[in-house]
Amino acid sequence: MNIILLGPPGAGKGTQASRLMADRGMVQLSTGDMLRAAVKAGTPTGMQAKAVMASGGLVSDDIVSGIIGERLDEPDTARGVIFDGYPRTAAQAEQLDELLASRARTLDYVIELGVDEDALVARIVGRYTCAHCGTGYHDSFAKPQVAGVCDKCASTEFKRRPDDNEETVRTRMEEYRAKTAPILPIYDARGLVHRVDGMADIDHVTQAIEAILDR
Ligand code: AP5
Ligand code: MG
Repeated sequence: MNIILLGPPGAGKGTQASRLMADRGMVQLSTGDMLRAAVKAGTPTGMQAKAVMASGGLVSDDIVSGIIGERLDEPDTARGVIFDGYPRTAAQAEQLDELLASRARTLDYVIELGVDEDALVARIVGRYTCAHCGTGYHDSFAKPQVAGVCDKCASTEFKRRPDDNEETVRTRMEEYRAKTAPILPIYDARGLVHRVDGMADIDHVTQAIEAILDR
């Protein structure tokens, strides 16, 4: 099963993708995470992407579809993929169709996480992750069980994303409205879109997604 999680910045794509990965053994493909890894490693892709990401703009379609295509050639993705943050433009949606068709794979569901924009800024500016294992947390909505200690790996080091500030978030939301939201009708016309209330608490959102996938 291959699915897309679609929604604006802070909608919960990464949170839900990592849960589906743990529950179903699917593979999360987050272009944001892949690009951040490329920036950290200082690869040519990372060097091209760094300033664009810091501004909240979108990295070029060919770069992101290129990294998705390479990743889809790795055998673990045959178990099923959760696309998190990809595709983000109509051109990327077309490129994804080609990437899947050439590997004889199909797209099964597009899950749209519907959220109230006012909540998104609060979610994003309060977000942080474990510096060691990447588990995601939030100052108010998803605290570790013991303050300052990662639930998963017991690390005490955490980090915040450089693009998680209010100004950049506004640009990211504008990009979503202008370039990403318009791809929904493409998938809607194919009967693939299922809408989930992303304002519900994290467990309820997971249950709603699982119910769709189990249909
Ligand atoms: P990317 O990393 O994809 O960022 P994004 O789309 O802005 O989305 P986020 O990761 O901010 O949000 P999320 O939906 O994953 O929310 P999360 O689960 O963390 O992209 C970053 C940049 O990379 C882009 O700006 C662009 O430059 C570039 N890029 C990436 N992909 C690209 C592409 N395809 N094309 C071109 N450029 C690309 O949740 C947020 C917080 O809220 C967390 O703290 C979480 O604990 C909390 N939370 C989650 N769900 C709930 C809930 N139900 N209730 C309460 N709190 C919740
Ligand atoms: Mg994310």
